[in-house]
Amino acid sequence: MRQTFDKIGRSDYFKFEILSPSKLCIGFDCSIPEYNDYLTNDALRSQNDHIALTWLLVEKSTGKIASYMSLIMDTIKITGAEKELHNLNYPFRTIPAMKIAKLAVNHSFSEKYKGIGSFMITNAELLALSCNLEYCAARFLTVDADIEHDKGVIAFYEKNGFIPNAELYNKKRTTISMRKDIYR
Ligand SMILES: CC(C)(COP(=O)(O)OP(=O)(O)OC[C@H]1O[C@@H](n2cnc3c(N)ncnc32)[C@H](O)[C@@H]1OP(=O)(O)O)[C@@H](O)C(=O)NCCC(=O)NCCS
Repeated sequence: MRQTFDKIGRSDYFKFEILSPSKLCIGFDCSIPEYNDYLTNDALRSQNDHIALTWLLVEKSTGKIASYMSLIMDTIKITGAEKELHNLNYPFRTIPAMKIAKLAVNHSFSEKYKGIGSFMITNAELLALSCNLEYCAARFLTVDADIEHDKGVIAFYEKNGFIPNAELYNKKRTTISMRKDIYR
């Protein structure tokens, strides 16, 4: 039976760190090849070019990567009704956000532990909150939920407090644009 990630004293077993050149990312397998390839081949280059910053959840005893997420700054356009929902009475449509551009959990770890993906989202939210306190405003956490690979991923984000945006789709309709208000 899978253990719940919250209940295993994760700070004793796992560390959360930024991707670095010395980190070997081979062996990461989340069952979607594109997400594996991104971590192995593109994440560091994107980080060096300041396109995306990648956070890793690393098992201390083995150095294996249990999960990764790439964060970027974002803005979303919301409708008048959506503004009302969030009590954002401003004339502009564009609201600042932090975006989870990539998120994946290593299959061998999700077999053992439930809740790793949710833990990563909680950490993204904590980073967004501290960014708000010290550096730069971001009201929402956003994601383009990748329904091309897995339609169920919407349920995962909804369980983590995200709701679909009125402007739902990308051009190819392979993703659903979602947001989470980190102050409500
Ligand atoms: C999607 C992903 C990040 C979820 O991580 P995870 O560690 O398995 O998720 P959690 O254990 O935190 O799940 C939290 C809840 O969401 C549900 N959930 C998770 N993934 C789901 C899916 N693909 N479809 C439906 N529900 C899902 C879980 O059952 C759980 O529900 P519960 O609390 O009612 O039991 C992971 O499966 C993954 O890496 N997938 C491949 C890459 C990917 O699709 N990334 C997202 C791209 S936008």
